[in-house]
Amino acid sequence: MDRRGFCRTLPALAVGVGTLGTAACGGAAYLVPRSVGGRLVVSTADLAGATAVFLTHPSSDRPIFLHRAASGEWSAVHARCTHRGCQPEPVGERLVCPCHGSEFELDGALLEGPAATGLTRYPVAVDGTDVVVTVAGGGS
Ligand code: FES
Repeated sequence: MDRRGFCRTLPALAVGVGTLGTAACGGAAYLVPRSVGGRLVVSTADLAGATAVFLTHPSSDRPIFLHRAASGEWSAVHARCTHRGCQPEPVGERLVCPCHGSEFELDGALLEGPAATGLTRYPVAVDGTDVVVTVAGGGS
């Protein structure tokens, strides 16, 4: 298995709900969220202080990139490049696509092509000690 294949299988290798996986692929660990209806839920305890993690996506082989900005605001984007579907990885303050070099803000806004649009964004809310990402019907 090559590195990209290994990275794609990491979510399946995560030990269980709420367990931070390895950060061997790109700059963020993998986390398996609780799925409640069309929402993905992680507790701040599960995040263990991390400000950027990949969450397994319920219907895609590409994960969701969950990020907390310095302002404290959370964002969640589908880590599936809008050019041809590769998985952008966090590099400093950007998400960089390894296939053809598109770059995105950490909140998914397009910085540089060849992708023509930003990444799909999902609403994020904080509910007590949980961070909730609405996936079903919530992408834009
Ligand atoms: Fe991402 Fe081409 S698939 S730039």
